[in-house]
Amino acid sequence: MKINNINIPLLPVLGGVAVLVVILVMWAGNGFQSLRSESPPIQVRHDMYYQSKSMAQEGNSFFADGKAMRDHVPGTLPRNGTVYAFTTPEEAEAAIAGNPLAVREDVLARGKNRFNTFCSPCHAQNGQDTTEVVRRGLQKPPNLAAANARGYSDARLFHVISAGQNIMPGYADKLPEQDRWAIVHYVRELQKAPMLYAEAPAAAADSTGAAETETTEQSQ
Ligand code: HEC
Repeated sequence: MKINNINIPLLPVLGGVAVLVVILVMWAGNGFQSLRSESPPIQVRHDMYYQSKSMAQEGNSFFADGKAMRDHVPGTLPRNGTVYAFTTPEEAEAAIAGNPLAVREDVLARGKNRFNTFCSPCHAQNGQDTTEVVRRGLQKPPNLAAANARGYSDARLFHVISAGQNIMPGYADKLPEQDRWAIVHYVRELQKAPMLYAEAPAAAADSTGAAETETTEQSQ
């Protein structure tokens, strides 16, 4: 082929164009990945960005109870886990002699670490204050330094932590026994502190405002 009297070798040119097109198509198939861009990537191929899966707390009509999150299969337990055998505090108190762990610095440190991680979202780090989840609507848990919880035996505290109490969930499937006992020791430590509130402040009341928020900040 001739353009302006110059010989154009048609085959090599077409071949080159074809190679370019193939490269472009393959690159597009990869979402033009090496290009920098502020906007979300063009997803010609979705990889695993979108999956047909259920997210936590989502509904799912596949199951009769309509929940996507499944309960534990009865009779199964986590690897290295133990079954918590008691359903009532009385059963636990009758069977459990007491805290098998000695009060030692490392035990208390472990108890504090686990308490601050697992319990403080609802009970606050001092076991007494109002927390953000309560300000956002959760029932205010009882003050752990109040006479009621102070009067609980170690076995009963262990039972509440393991099996839960009313709307408080149990932690037997999340915390190994040793950790739950370490928490019991740590709760005893927290109970030595003076009571900050005579009665639990109401969960949704506005009285959880200024004055109490200050105490929360000071104590953490
Ligand atoms: C999701 C919020 C939440 C978490 C997390 C939580 N609790 Fe509770 N807890 C509550 C509520 C609410 C109650 C009151 C339940 C009731 O009405 O009997 C309660 C009750 C208790 C009681 C009984 C107090 C009494 O006077 O009867 C103890 C003891 C206790 N919790 C300790 C713990 C410990 C220790 C942890 C951490 C392992 C923990 N809780 C984690 C919400 C929570």
